[in-house]
Amino acid sequence: VASAPQAAAAAPQAPAVPAAPREATILFGSQTGNGSGLAKKLAKRLEEQQVKAEALSMADFKPANLKKIDNLLIVVSTHGEGEPPDNALAFHEFLHSKRAPKLEQLRYSVLALGDTSYEFFCQTGKDFDARLAELGATRLAERVDCDVDFDESAGEWMKAVAEALSASPSAAASAADSAAPLSADPESEYSRSNPFRAEVLENLNLNGRGSARETRHLELSLEGSGLTYEPGDSLGVYPENHPRLVDEIIEEMGWNPDEIVPTGKNASAALREALHRYYEITVLTKPLLEQAAKLSGSEALAKLTAPEAAAELRAYIGERDLLDLIRDFGLKGRTAAEVTGILRKLPARLYSIASSAKATPDEVHLTVRTVRYACGGRDRYGVCSVQMAERLEPGDQLPVFIQHNPNFKLPANPDTPIIMIGPGTGVAPFRSFLAEREETDARGRTWLFFGDQHFSTDFLYQTEWQRWIKDGVLTKMDVAFSRDTDEKVYVQHRMLEKSKELYEWIDGGAAVYVCGDEKNMAHDVHTTLETIIAQGGGFSPEQASEYLLRMQQEKRYQRDVY
Ligand code: 2AM
Repeated sequence: VASAPQAAAAAPQAPAVPAAPREATILFGSQTGNGSGLAKKLAKRLEEQQVKAEALSMADFKPANLKKIDNLLIVVSTHGEGEPPDNALAFHEFLHSKRAPKLEQLRYSVLALGDTSYEFFCQTGKDFDARLAELGATRLAERVDCDVDFDESAGEWMKAVAEALSASPSAAASAADSAAPLSADPESEYSRSNPFRAEVLENLNLNGRGSARETRHLELSLEGSGLTYEPGDSLGVYPENHPRLVDEIIEEMGWNPDEIVPTGKNASAALREALHRYYEITVLTKPLLEQAAKLSGSEALAKLTAPEAAAELRAYIGERDLLDLIRDFGLKGRTAAEVTGILRKLPARLYSIASSAKATPDEVHLTVRTVRYACGGRDRYGVCSVQMAERLEPGDQLPVFIQHNPNFKLPANPDTPIIMIGPGTGVAPFRSFLAEREETDARGRTWLFFGDQHFSTDFLYQTEWQRWIKDGVLTKMDVAFSRDTDEKVYVQHRMLEKSKELYEWIDGGAAVYVCGDEKNMAHDVHTTLETIIAQGGGFSPEQASEYLLRMQQEKRYQRDVY
C-alpha cells in the first residue's frame, strides 16, 4: 500500500521546461468607456490562461515600446466622420507617420467598435489594422468590426485572440466561454447586458414657457441595485419605440400585431411588442438596406447601396426610418419574421450623468433634450428623449446601466482648478462635478461656461449655479445666450473675451472639460482654446496645438462629446 506514492514519485515525468511567459499588450482608444471595459475584460480572460496581459489607454502607451512587445491587441472606436477618439489621436498619428518603426516582430489583432448607421463605420480600427500590416506585423486573428450591439462579436474576437495566444486552444476556448460577463461594478449584478429597472422619481421640464426647447430633468432611483458611479460617468438607458410609429408600420405592411416573431436567440414576442421594445425602427443602416434590397428585389434600392451612390445613401439614411423604407421601396408582401429578421436590436442610449452619488446617494439624474422635428411631411421623434418627455411618469421604470467613462474624470487633486465648457445639455456632467466638489469640500477653483438660446427660458439649473456661486463652490460663470441679441453669441465668444484670464488658469495647471455637441461646438471650442493658448503663451499656432495635444495626453483636457 505504501509503495503506491513511491511508484508515482519514481515514474518518469516530462521534464519541466519552463514555457516562455506569454505576454500581450492591450491598447484601447474610446470616448465612452466601452473600449476600456472590453480591454479590461480581455486582460482578465488572458490572465486566466496564464497570458500576462495589461490593458492600457493608447494615450498612456509609449510608442517607443512598440519594438519591445510581441503581441499587441487593439480595441478602438470611431468617431464622427471616421476620426479616432481623443485618447487614440496621438498614437494613431504616430503610427501613420514616417516615425513609425518596422514591426516585423509584432503579432496583433484589432477589435473595431462602431455603428453601421455611420458612413465611415469602424474606420479607425480599419486604419490601425491596415497600417500595422503595412509596417510588417502579422495578424494573430482577423479584425472584427462591431456594430452598436457589440457583445456577441466582441466575445467572438476575444475567443479567437485567446486561442491564438494560448498554447492549448481548447483550454483557451473554455476559459473564454466560462468567463463571467464583465460587470461594470464588482458589487452589482447589473450591467449593460442585464440592466437594472430604475424607478422614476422626478421628471421635469427645465425650459420656461415659450421656449423653442424642451429639456427634461430626470431623477431615477438606483436603490437596491448596488450600482455606483463617479462624476463623468454615463447612464445607459434602453428606450422604447413610439407606439404610433409601431402601429403605422404594422398597418402599412398589413401584418398581424399579435403574430409571434423571434427576438434574439431563443426568445420571441408578439410583433407589436417586438417592434415596441426590441427592434430598431428609426435608424437605417447600409447593411439593413442591402438586406432589404435582397428581400424586396428592388433594383432602385440595390443601386442606392452601390459604392457609386455613397452620397445619395448618406442623404437617404440621414433622414428616413423603417416606415419610409417600406413606403419607398415596397417591402410589401414580406412577412413580419422576414423583415424583423434584418433589423438591428434597439441600442441603449448613453446620457452624461448630472448628479453626484455622494451628494444624492441611490439616485441618478439626467438632463435630456427632447428631439422632435419634421421631415418628409411627417413628425419625427427622438426615441428615448420623446419617451422621457411624453411617456414616462414618476413610478414608472426604465432599464438602465452605468457606463463608466475613464476619459472624463475630475482631477485626482481636489485643489486643481477646473474650467468647464458645457452649452445646452452639455452642462449635465458639470452639475455632477460641482455637486461632488461641494460634497467633498474640495477647494480648487471652478469656472463654468454655459450657453443656450434665451436667458429667460433656457437657463438650465439657473438657481443651482447661483447658489454654488454664493457658497463659493463655483468661482466664476460666463453665459452666452445665442438668440437674445441680433448677433449670435456662443460660449467660445465668451471664452475669447476672457482669453487672458483663461490662459492664466490653464498655465497655472487648470484642467479643461468640454461636453456637448461634437461637430460644431466642440470643434469651435477646440480652435478657440488653441487661439487662447497661442495668444497667452506667445506661441505659434503649431506650438499651441501641440500644447493642447499634450494637455489631452496628460488628461488635463478631456471631452465628453456626442
Ligand atoms: P443656436 O441654437 O442659437 O445656434 C446650446 O444648444 C447652445 O449652443 C445654443 O445656444 C446654440 O445656439 C449653441 N450653438 C450652436 N452652434 C454652436 C457652436 N458651433 N458653438 C457653440 N455653441 C453653439
